Amino acid sequence: MLNRLFCPNQEKVLSTIHRFGRKGLGPFSGVNFFASMATPSLFWEVVGIEAGYQELVEGRFQRLDNRKVGGILQRGGTVLGTARSMEFATPEGQELAASRLQKAGVEGLVVIGGEGSLTGALRLQERGVKVVGIPATIDYDVFATDTAIGVDTALNTALEAIDRIKDTASSHQRAHVVEVMGRRCGYLALMSAIAGGAEVVLIPEFEAKPQEIMRVIRRSWEQGKPHFIVVAAERAPLSAEDIHKYINETEGAFKSRLTVLGYVQRGGSPTAFDRILASRMGTAAVKALSEGQSGIMIELGGRQTEYIPLERVVGQVRPLDADIYEMAEVLAGLPDEI
Ligand code: F6P
Repeated sequence: MLNRLFCPNQEKVLSTIHRFGRKGLGPFSGVNFFASMATPSLFWEVVGIEAGYQELVEGRFQRLDNRKVGGILQRGGTVLGTARSMEFATPEGQELAASRLQKAGVEGLVVIGGEGSLTGALRLQERGVKVVGIPATIDYDVFATDTAIGVDTALNTALEAIDRIKDTASSHQRAHVVEVMGRRCGYLALMSAIAGGAEVVLIPEFEAKPQEIMRVIRRSWEQGKPHFIVVAAERAPLSAEDIHKYINETEGAFKSRLTVLGYVQRGGSPTAFDRILASRMGTAAVKALSEGQSGIMIELGGRQTEYIPLERVVGQVRPLDADIYEMAEVLAGLPDEI
């Protein structure tokens, strides 16, 4: 029986393994839910770490008791905090982290985060740590799992913003370009564009030319549409800023305004879906550890939580569903000639 379960939030620190000190990932809605769910467990002493892997390398663990996790279910962000760790990005740092866990008598580690965090989990597993990963990121880029904790909350936040912007767009007969996050993955942009009824979506996975977008804008204007919404993913090859400028520099039709949603999408109270997902994945992770499983990630496959080896997840690129992209074009009523 495990008696110590370690549940850091390592999203930001572990991303440095992948990206070596460039901008890291951050907190998202759902981590608190896991901490709060796991802590009152009757069978484990649960320890957490503030600032993720950096404090793991430094061996600073703290007990998570009911007082520490009380009243956090509905909060976004993470009570454990997050940070980058250049030290953990090195093999020596990973060795040190593994030995810290061993010395502290930690028998199971739950890593909650995106691609970078899960890469770190695999590195620890290779060093003998019993580890289970939980996919949690707003970016929808973790391979295999149907979804990750945080995606639904971020999507709903982006959608609410687009709905609100549309009100202004219609009143003023303007084009509005809305930039959403998602790192290398266009999922958040694509889904919020479909749900928000945007006319155009720009995502990293597909190229678009400004002239083509302008043709669609003119057509919409001629058809008497009261607004024109472009949703652009932050890493789309034709960026939100570029298309915004292009529209304003081109004569006729709508004038454009630009809104960058940015970190608004990373905060806020988690949706019911994310809370339940965090709860299910957390429960599955604890169960997996108690069964002696290690080196796996919990994934949502259809309606079930399942186990998948971390090495099948890490380093994989999640392909975007081209059918959904095509559906977005059909729903937007794009003209055939573009
Ligand atoms: O991975 C989550 C995310 O919000 C991405 O969508 C975004 O590209 C990145 O993190 C921003 O990172 P930082 O907080 O370091 O600016």
